[in-house]
Amino acid sequence: MPEFHHFLNQLPKAELHLHLEGSLEPELMFKLAQRNQITLPFDSIEAIRAAYEFSNLQDFLDIYYQGANVLQTEQDFYDLTWAYLERCYQQNVRHVEPFFDPQTHTDRGIPFGTVINGIHQALQDAKTKFGISSYLIMCFLRHLPETAALTTLEQALPYKDKIIAVGLDSSEKGFPPELFERVFAKARAEGWLTVAHAGEEGPADYIKQAIELLKVKRIDHGVRCVEDPQLVEHLIQTQMPLTVCPLSNLKLCVFKDMREHNILELLERGVKVTINSDDPAYFGGYMTENFIAVADALSMTKTQAIQLAQNSFEASFLPTAAKATWKQQLQALA
Ligand code: ADE
Ligand code: ZN
Repeated sequence: MPEFHHFLNQLPKAELHLHLEGSLEPELMFKLAQRNQITLPFDSIEAIRAAYEFSNLQDFLDIYYQGANVLQTEQDFYDLTWAYLERCYQQNVRHVEPFFDPQTHTDRGIPFGTVINGIHQALQDAKTKFGISSYLIMCFLRHLPETAALTTLEQALPYKDKIIAVGLDSSEKGFPPELFERVFAKARAEGWLTVAHAGEEGPADYIKQAIELLKVKRIDHGVRCVEDPQLVEHLIQTQMPLTVCPLSNLKLCVFKDMREHNILELLERGVKVTINSDDPAYFGGYMTENFIAVADALSMTKTQAIQLAQNSFEASFLPTAAKATWKQQLQALA
């Protein structure tokens, strides 16, 4: 591995935009399909990988929801989460705030508790075995009505302490944040923080709506903010974090070429951008691979890499004291 790539792998990092269902590697998908006697529409692991060619977000989502059908038992959700955390350990990801999509599972008859208990146990074990800290974020699927999100919120209440925030994901265009104003208000009243996917495929106005109406603490993706210069100024002034996912953006054709990606330009302008993997099993890489892809295409400097890592802890929901400790550790690498 080239020296700078090794440096990027060793850099302590936090991941703030990761869908656990999107970390389901074809090998585990096959294993779980066998374990649960589910027939996959693919003959082999190679055939699964070959199907991962997407021209937009919806193309991907169709395959992603199909893949999630193999997840049935608490052990399956544990194994899924644990496999992701092993990758984190290998890549020196020291803190994670993953998403899960309960509706993808409860709509198939899987109890909410089965999903969250499996995930939670793996997160606990990662703290003990790997020293990886974590908070969990529950996402609402925006292609479904707000009433369904409200039902999900009710189902989550007995597990309130296992969740730090709610988010909004799935098909973006045509499903603006304003449709979810009430359920997000209810989530905040319950003490949860809020985040939302916005400005991935949808317009800059969806970013504004997420900030103004859903009172989010971070924007997931947000790369289309550049279409509204006033909004960019606002993001800089308020230091609103963007959890950017470079390989995802490439695979879903948000940018045609990594050399066209705007992440380092936003970083240099003072936007609090972070690097994340989104759905690594589908997009070709975890945290280190995302850092490397940006570094190689856009000539990332060591100073920029350290700033991106620092941003990832600063944009996290960790307490102030923990953020200060990570900042000190990262500054020592400069
Ligand atoms: N669900 C999983 N990955 C997603 C993405 N990149 N955008 C919206 N919803 C998602
Ligand atoms: Zn995402």
